[in-house]
Amino acid sequence: MTQAPEIKIVEVGPRDGLQSEPYTVPTSIKVELIDRLADAGLSVIETTSFVSDQAIPQLSDAELVYARLQQQPGVRYPALVPNERGYERARAAGITDIAVFTAASEAFNQHNINCSIEQSMARFAPVIERAQSDGVSVRGYVSTVMGCPYQGDVPISDVVRISEALYAAGCYEISLGDTIGVGNARQAQDLIRSVAQSIPIEQLAVHFHDTYGQALANIFACLELGVKTIDSSVAGLGGCPYARGATGNVATEDVVYMLDGMGLTTGIDLWALAQTGRWIAAELGRPHSRAGQAVLKTRQ
Ligand code: HMG
Ligand code: MG
Repeated sequence: MTQAPEIKIVEVGPRDGLQSEPYTVPTSIKVELIDRLADAGLSVIETTSFVSDQAIPQLSDAELVYARLQQQPGVRYPALVPNERGYERARAAGITDIAVFTAASEAFNQHNINCSIEQSMARFAPVIERAQSDGVSVRGYVSTVMGCPYQGDVPISDVVRISEALYAAGCYEISLGDTIGVGNARQAQDLIRSVAQSIPIEQLAVHFHDTYGQALANIFACLELGVKTIDSSVAGLGGCPYARGATGNVATEDVVYMLDGMGLTTGIDLWALAQTGRWIAAELGRPHSRAGQAVLKTRQ
């Protein structure tokens, strides 16, 4: 029997990455990206969002993407859901894993989902209740955990409060998002220590955008405390439509290269991943990740 990987990578490129492209990527490219990521060994691939197409026109083909991708056994394909309307669309598409999303900053939440934090929790309550009775798993995102593009500093106590509320509402995993990539390693450790006082560390994930090149250091700092789930995006795709100047998530290739070197297993084939990264970067006219390029150059 093969051993379970020590670290779970949640690939968010097809959702977090492609939602931020200046134009809508063709459905066929999205589907090929997801299928290639599954072939490379990614076991959780956040695929799309069932949100308003006025808010995120780049993902308005969510149903089509689901209908066309080749679901592989053992791979989960979660999608973002902001409200009951999104939940119904997701279920009609056959989805069994969803994520709800709010923020630790009121201002960001207003810009992102047009409601207060409290209102967002009230919107999620029936979604989570229905998901639980349908056997659908629900992940919870907290954005702006280390800084907000509108508010600036975000108190850790706010992150703890929102994380606890999502966890108590029934989310099995809480992903802590440095949406604009401003945090540093010490701040990341302070945050994890605080949130882990009330939520088991196995239920926490870290989601670092890499605007200032701090993401790998932050991930290492969190691994040291026992975090085992890392969100990342192939080729470092992405940004945030509501956070001007924020760059993509940490590149999956960079994370897997670091973990492989540290002897921590992920179940991911770095070579296949790097080839996928080079392909999607070329399709989108973007640079490939540093580790992805290096792997392809040095491991012929
Ligand atoms: P609203 O305007 O307040 O809501 O938007 P509404 O209920 O008044 O609806 C407005 C229109 O959207 C209506 O259409 C609804 O039917 C439609 P109209 O009647 O005007 O033609 N609508 C929908 N359509 C399809 N699917 C739905 C849906 N809901 C309403 N589910 C809403 C509120 C939340 C819907 C909107 O603001 C929205 O969709 N926002 C999405 C924002 C988003 O996806 N942001 C990026 C993801 S979060 C992120 O990237 C951060 C993360 O990566 C972590 C991190 O980095 O920190 C997760
Ligand atoms: Mg994000």
